Amino acid sequence: MTAMRTSILEACDITLEVGGGKSRREILSTTSFSVKDNEFVCLVGPSGCGKTTLLRAMAGLMEPTSGTINFNGREINTPSLDIAFVFQDYGRALLQWRTVAENVSLALEARAVPKSEHRDRINVLLRKMRLEEHSQKYPSQLSGGMQQRVQIARCLAQEPRVLLMDEPFGALDAFTRQDLQDELLRLSREEGRSILFVTHDIEEAIYLSNRVIALAANPGRIAEIVDIDLPYPRNQLATRENPRFLEYRTCLYKHLHH
Ligand SMILES: Nc1ncnc2c1ncn2[C@@H]1O[C@H](COP(=O)(O)OP(=O)(O)O)[C@@H](O)[C@H]1O
Ligand SMILES: [Mg+2]
Repeated sequence: MTAMRTSILEACDITLEVGGGKSRREILSTTSFSVKDNEFVCLVGPSGCGKTTLLRAMAGLMEPTSGTINFNGREINTPSLDIAFVFQDYGRALLQWRTVAENVSLALEARAVPKSEHRDRINVLLRKMRLEEHSQKYPSQLSGGMQQRVQIARCLAQEPRVLLMDEPFGALDAFTRQDLQDELLRLSREEGRSILFVTHDIEEAIYLSNRVIALAANPGRIAEIVDIDLPYPRNQLATRENPRFLEYRTCLYKHLHH
């Protein structure tokens, strides 16, 4: 089935260097991969290996030193509303002086959606993220998991083709994290959007993905790509006990800890 999907976001032979002269440093060495329509891809790797840098480049927020990033077959070098970015730090991503509903409406304003449509659209998104009870609250009145759901709702309001997520659940406790993993899986299957998700947690990567890309450090590069053939719907107990899950975990572990 994967073979029939078309690439929506592609990195083609990109390298990324920072600094000049003696302090010049290669952060990413030649890297190529693609995310296809409706695909959930995780980038996993140790801290400092270049995951955030790669994700920022894929978002058009950073220009690669060589190579290209293509969206829908065309090179991009500036951010686009078609590509939404979900940050780990939800506290800084949300505007504290705006309510939940007003935070989501920011994305509708960016898309120039007529004001008269905002209310209905916001309600649909908040229901989808199970936040309908909280639309008039301010971010500081919500738990971390709820704030992260607001950020995801706002990104969906942007109606992107691709969601880029940088360790979005890293700051959450284990229970909240598993709930959000399941909500994100449900969303990705219902909405048919492509997701490129960064994590340093191998098990989270396998649980969520169609494909896991393991990165090695110094300089950042692809160590291994693993297709994840596990049934849907995924289940926090059954999926994680599936013998294949354990094989993927061993395989990725070996590539990441050599
Ligand atoms: N703008 C920059 N200038 C210099 N070094 C940077 C810059 N951005 C990232 N780095 C370095 O690049 C490496 C990869 O960083 P990062 O992409 O944040 O890794 P990760 O997200 O995997 O933890 C780190 O060593 C970091 O210090
Ligand atoms: Mg990072």
